[in-house]
Amino acid sequence: MDTLASYDELPYDSLPLPETQPDFLAAVARLHGYDAPDPVRARILELGCAQGGNLIPLAWRWPESECVGVELSRIQAESGAAFIRALDLPNARIVHADLAALPDGLGEFDYIIAHGVFSWVPPSVQQALLDLCRRHLSANGVAYVSFNVAAGWQRLQPLRAALVERTSPGLPAPQRHQQALRILDELAAEWSDPFLLKEIAYLKTAAPSYLFHEYLAEFNAPMSFGEFTAQLDAHHLRYVGEAGPRCAVVELEDAWGLIPESMAGRWMDAESALDDALSVRFRRALIACADAPCAQPPEMEALGGLSFHADLRCDEEIDLDGMTEQAFINPAGNGFPVVLPLMKAAVMVLSGAYPLALNHADLLGAARQLMADYGVPDSPDEPTYREALFQLVIAHGVMPTVWAAEAAMEPGERPIAHRLARLQAATSGWVVSGARHVAIDLDPAGRMLLSLLDGNRTLDDLVAVMRAFLAEAGLALSMDAVTELTHRQLWLFARQGLLASEQG
Ligand SMILES: C[S@@+](CC[C@H](N)C(=O)[O-])C[C@H]1O[C@@H](n2cnc3c(N)ncnc32)[C@H](O)[C@@H]1O
Repeated sequence: MDTLASYDELPYDSLPLPETQPDFLAAVARLHGYDAPDPVRARILELGCAQGGNLIPLAWRWPESECVGVELSRIQAESGAAFIRALDLPNARIVHADLAALPDGLGEFDYIIAHGVFSWVPPSVQQALLDLCRRHLSANGVAYVSFNVAAGWQRLQPLRAALVERTSPGLPAPQRHQQALRILDELAAEWSDPFLLKEIAYLKTAAPSYLFHEYLAEFNAPMSFGEFTAQLDAHHLRYVGEAGPRCAVVELEDAWGLIPESMAGRWMDAESALDDALSVRFRRALIACADAPCAQPPEMEALGGLSFHADLRCDEEIDLDGMTEQAFINPAGNGFPVVLPLMKAAVMVLSGAYPLALNHADLLGAARQLMADYGVPDSPDEPTYREALFQLVIAHGVMPTVWAAEAAMEPGERPIAHRLARLQAATSGWVVSGARHVAIDLDPAGRMLLSLLDGNRTLDDLVAVMRAFLAEAGLALSMDAVTELTHRQLWLFARQGLLASEQG
C-alpha cells in the first residue's frame, strides 16, 4: 500500500485549522518583530490541502484574497474542486499535483501553509517543500510548516513499530486500520507503561485517518528543532516563531535556565530545551526567507500593536476582587488559569465581544471600565496586566490577530445562514467552520437546521421542522423544549458568525 493510495482510501479529515489563519500568522510574526503581508488581500498557497476543509473557508472569509491548494490525492483534490464549484467561489482553486513538481506560473505567495505534510512525505519531498517556500514566498511572506518533533515521539516509537510490524502493509487502508485496532487491544494487554497505555486508549477513539497516517503510514519521521532549523539554513530560510500554543512563559524561562548564559543563539537553544523539557510532539513553525530581519523571541511590547479575541467561559462566579486563580475554558475544553482580576475582566470583555477582536488599548479600557462597573476600585499597573495577557496569548487562551472581524448577525424573524455554512452543513464529510475558523461540532439535527436557513422559513417553521426531525429520530419532545433547543442552536450559529443579513 503506498502512501498516496492510503489517502485516497482513507481521506484525511479535512478541517479548518485556526492556527493557519493568515491574520493570526501575521500577529505571531509581529510578536517576533516581523511584518507579514496584509492577510485580507493575500495570495495564499496550501500544500497537501486534502479536500480543502481549511483552504476553502479562508477563501470565503477573505474574498479579496487568492487561495490555491495543491493536493496529490486525486479523490481529495476533486472533492475540493467540486465543493468550490458548488459554492461558486471565484478566489479558490485546488490543483491536483505533486508539490515536488508544481506547475509553472503559480507565482509568489504571501502565506504558504503546509499542515501535516512535512513529516509524512519522503525526504526528497521535504526538500522540495522547503525549496518551494524559498522560491514562492513573496517579500515578507511567511510559511507555516508543521512537523513531528523527536522529543515527544521518542517514547511513542515502540508503539508505531509494533503497529507497523503486526499489521499487513498490503491491506487496503480501511481494513488495515481495523487490524490496527485489534493490535491495540493486544498491546494494551501486553504492555504496562502508563504513557503508552494512555496513547493506546486515545488511538482507539481517534479518527481512523489519524491512527493510520501517524502510526501506519510509510513516512513519519519526527526530527529535533535543531535538525529542522538546519534544514531551513540549507534552503536559505529562517525560523520566525512558533504558531502552536506554548504552555507558559514561565516554562519558557525555565527552559532558558537550562542553557548556559554564554551560549550563542540563546533563543533557538531555549526552543530545543523546551521541546525536551515538555516532551513536545508537534511544532507549527513559522518561517521566512533568510534575508528577512533577524530572528527574535516573542516580545511582550509587541502586544500593543495587536488585537485579540477569545471564546472562554468560567464555570464559577468570577472573582474580580482578589487574586484567586480561576480556570477559563475554551470550546475545546482546554483550561487557562487566570489570577489577575483585570485580566479576568479583559477575558470577560473579549468573550462577550466574540468573534470580534479588540485592540490592546480598547481592551484595556473596556476591562478597566468593567472593573469600575463592578465597583472594584483598584487596578494593577499596565506591565503586570501586559504580562498576564502575554501568557494567555502564548498559551492560545487569547488569540492575537491583526483583523477585527465582522460583528455577528442576530437570527432575526427569518434566519439566514451564509452559503458556505449551509453547504458545509448539507454535505457529508464537510465540517462547518466558524467565524474564527474553528471547527463547529454539530449533531445531525444542528446540521439539518443550519442547512435550512435560507431566509424562507420563520422561527415557527424551523421549530416545526426540528420537532418532526427529532420525532423521526425517536426523540419526542414538547413544543416548548424544541422551541428552546432551536433558539439556542440559532444563537450558537449567530455567535459563530454563520448568519447573514441576506441570501448570497
Ligand atoms: C496528513 S494529510 C494532511 C491534510 C491537511 N493538510 C490537514 O492537515 O488536515 C497530508 C496530505 O498531504 C497530501 N500529500 C502528500 N504528499 C503530497 C505531495 N507530494 N504533493 C501534494 N500533496 C501531498 C496527502 O495526499 C494528504 O492529503
